[in-house]
Amino acid sequence: MSAEIIYGSELSAELKEKMKKEVDELHNKRIFPSLTVVLIGENPASQSYVRGKQKAAAQVGVDSDLIELPSTTTQDELLQLIGRLNKDPKVHGILVQLPLPDQINEQVIIEAIDPSKDVDGFHPINIGRMMAGKDTFLPCTPFGIITMLKSRNIEISGKHAVVIGRSNIVGKPVGQLLLNENATVTYCHSRTNNMKDHTLQADILIVAVGKEHFVTADHVKEGAVVIDVGVNRMENGKLTGDVDFDSVKEKASFLTPVPKGVGPMTITMLLHNTIKAAKLLS
Ligand code: GUN
Repeated sequence: MSAEIIYGSELSAELKEKMKKEVDELHNKRIFPSLTVVLIGENPASQSYVRGKQKAAAQVGVDSDLIELPSTTTQDELLQLIGRLNKDPKVHGILVQLPLPDQINEQVIIEAIDPSKDVDGFHPINIGRMMAGKDTFLPCTPFGIITMLKSRNIEISGKHAVVIGRSNIVGKPVGQLLLNENATVTYCHSRTNNMKDHTLQADILIVAVGKEHFVTADHVKEGAVVIDVGVNRMENGKLTGDVDFDSVKEKASFLTPVPKGVGPMTITMLLHNTIKAAKLLS
């Protein structure tokens, strides 16, 4: 079997076209969806992600503001800024780019953001709503993955989904969203014994470990759907995923590439959440 490749870049472009029309209609009603991104320090990967978010916001007509602060910023200074943004009626979405410098406690910052402006979907209130299966801001990467599966009419209900990785940003919430769609979900992680025994059972395999080509064809059942969330920079400077694309392509039914796979969808769902916040707050 040679897998169908799901290009998140193409699906993103379609979704952004629709969002642009929606934003135009909101503008006619004097609602101007607006996202404020806070970037602390000079982590090159974070700088690149933030540029991508701003570019995509401009494409759909969402206003975006970037607040850049030095790596020496204190937790109190950041909390004061978040307090101001929470109160500012012109700000609909607040995104504090992670990771944060060591002197700042990430969880304290996440919990300081008004849940109604939490377009990352990281606030415990929004995570709780997601777990309860209620309408809320869904974390962008997991939301993007579910949107990609649905775009190809891939059946989730009743299927065995195996998630490799248990981060708060991707692994844990994507498993929860698959469960909400009635999948049977297994989580694998760095302490899992005999990983292949689990991954070979997967109808849907989500790989979010952050290790270049961690998953090879021998982890994958014939006909499985494989979603690669990894973004790893190779020695030659190019980006590659957690999945060995060339070998897995011959076994999977669907496969996402890196780049142009899940990454563009993450940004697109952030815009979706920002528009949703603007509508709810206006
Ligand atoms: N760092 C890596 N991914 C993300 C994300 O989705 N949101 C935020 N805020 N920081 C990140």
